[in-house]
Amino acid sequence: MKVLVTGRLPEAVMAAIKEEHHVVAHGEDRPIKRQRLLDLVGDKEGLLCMITDRIDGEVLDGAPNLKMIANLAVGYDNIDVADATVRGIPVSNTPGVLTDATADITFALILAMARRVVEGDRRTRAGEFRFWAPLHFLGREVSGKTLGIIGLGRIGRAVARRAKGFDMQILYHSRKRLEAFEENELGVSYADFNGLLEQSDFVSLHVPLTDGTHHLIGLRELKTMKPSAYLINTSRGPVVDEEALLEVLREGGIEGAGLDVYENEPALTPGLTELKNVVLLPHVGSGTIETRTKMGLKAAENLLAGLRGKRPPDCLNPEVFS
Ligand code: GLV
Repeated sequence: MKVLVTGRLPEAVMAAIKEEHHVVAHGEDRPIKRQRLLDLVGDKEGLLCMITDRIDGEVLDGAPNLKMIANLAVGYDNIDVADATVRGIPVSNTPGVLTDATADITFALILAMARRVVEGDRRTRAGEFRFWAPLHFLGREVSGKTLGIIGLGRIGRAVARRAKGFDMQILYHSRKRLEAFEENELGVSYADFNGLLEQSDFVSLHVPLTDGTHHLIGLRELKTMKPSAYLINTSRGPVVDEEALLEVLREGGIEGAGLDVYENEPALTPGLTELKNVVLLPHVGSGTIETRTKMGLKAAENLLAGLRGKRPPDCLNPEVFS
């Protein structure tokens, strides 16, 4: 069958797909342009796509032979899954393999913000480390502080496990409260949304982007946080109202923000880069050689299963098989 792969992937991943199918790849590192996607997908049975591709009714209308869509990500807000379901097309994501990498980058941001790691590096290079002094370059302690995790799925839990090692108090808020034994095992306490915002020294977001989580963190929520608290976002940009965040950061309403994702990425809200109290990463939560390879292999495994008419292991709309 014919397959379109919209990004450059490790050779092992491409080889696995090529063993069974004829592959056309957008072999560049930059996202495929919309028109090129529409042109190339037209006669394909399989699509392995990136989070930078919007897979909506227009794409699906133009690809009448499509039998399988495999997204190279755990988040799938870029795909109109309901529309694919109506057309009987299975859609898959890549859960599990990027949990640790994303939890690691969350902690990198927590530590970088609290201990002023990026600023310290910049100022040391600029020759500003002229002497040691007791009150120089002071950050805030991470160990023993309160971490508020919003969304306790795989990644939220992996962040909690790391936080335990830092002797943090861990609050969580999620749609579903865990069983008491699970809370004990993870060392987490349930808090209502406002309570978590009020009490946490670090608020970290681990929800998927849906209609229900769009702008979950806006002006009111940011103003509910402690002035000494940090916001960490490694989920999806639109979960935070970036204009509101900018306003609150400017006013010193919270201490800082560590961001890996942006509301209109790769564009940044004007003014964000001028702020001193932010650390800004280029959406690299899953960005390790090991994890990106595992994600590619998982996406390929799902794609190949779907094209064989089997239910892909990470199918997001299993109802298409009933
Ligand atoms: C990356 O952002 C992912 O959702 O996997």
